[in-house]
Amino acid sequence: MINLESIHSLVADDMAAVNLVILDHLESPITLIKQLGEHILKSGGKRLRPLLALLSAHCFSYKGKDHIRLAAIVEFIHTATLLHDDVVDSSQMRRGQNTANAIWGNQASVLVGDFLFSRSFQMMVVLNSLKVMEILARASNTIAAGEVLQLMNCHQPDTNESQYMAVIEAKTACLFSAATQLGAHIAGQSPQMEETMANYGLHLGNAFQLIDDALDYSGNSSEMGKNIGDDLAEGKPTLPLIYVIQHGNSQQQKLIIDALQQGTLEKLDEIQKIIASTGAIEYTYAAAKREALLAIESLKTVPDSPYKAALVNLANFTLERVS
Ligand code: IPE
Ligand code: IPE
Ligand code: MG
Ligand code: MG
Repeated sequence: MINLESIHSLVADDMAAVNLVILDHLESPITLIKQLGEHILKSGGKRLRPLLALLSAHCFSYKGKDHIRLAAIVEFIHTATLLHDDVVDSSQMRRGQNTANAIWGNQASVLVGDFLFSRSFQMMVVLNSLKVMEILARASNTIAAGEVLQLMNCHQPDTNESQYMAVIEAKTACLFSAATQLGAHIAGQSPQMEETMANYGLHLGNAFQLIDDALDYSGNSSEMGKNIGDDLAEGKPTLPLIYVIQHGNSQQQKLIIDALQQGTLEKLDEIQKIIASTGAIEYTYAAAKREALLAIESLKTVPDSPYKAALVNLANFTLERVS
């Protein structure tokens, strides 16, 4: 079992600095911003995207300080998308706590999400790099487009695997990719090396979301800190469901299609059993493993270092994670 803490320990001082930058930029005279912002940002989370930015910069012996701010920026963007995502998904639990929307309502979550998102752009401007702006602006826009695409696929049982992959690449993998590309970029690497690191992040992000979608049916709510079945409740055609629709028997297919069309959790138990018995979870894990291996393979031209080894470990961690 790979321990995320041991990967984090490589950049513990940097991450402590990132957390300070995060809290510093939550400052606002408007109490709800600080309250809601601290609720989500202090509730933990794996800090994976900042971790990626830090490790990537260290892979190239970066000696400056911009990686700290960049790492805080990607976590702000991530947090803003989570606030919005939990409203869109009507989710009630995240990071083992009630979601912000469950506590303060949808309006507050959307608006504070906007605050964090726009704050991330203010933090970027300070770095005074058009290329950094370009990478992060593109990632932010792609996430938004991915979430809209996903919304269009909701309750659509004929969504296929490649349409699903396009959604997860946009909504999740592109921010992982921006984080790893930025590390190489600020360390002054060639465009080829930036692309290498961007590819690593993209494949890692795909693997990460595939596992997230498997865990939404096969995981444990208390370990995940999120409720099982949120995807079904929203009628999201994720890979475990797509697999059963394509490979289950006619009765199994019908049950899944109906539940997806209605977006109901009424038959969640039965659906979880079908997903388990048809091999849909194994199929999703196999797809994630392919992506994780592609991520690791992308690193072959990156010089060996403990930081590169940590990126390899992270790809393997992604497959083993339970939260
Ligand atoms: C949650 O991301 C959203 C997805 C892309 C599945 P994380 O699982 O990285 O969330 P935290 O930050 O650790 O809570
Ligand atoms: C989240 O996807 C992707 C973004 C936040 C953009 P999910 O909806 O699967 O994430 P969780 O399960 O709510 O964390
Ligand atoms: Mg969600
Ligand atoms: Mg999910």
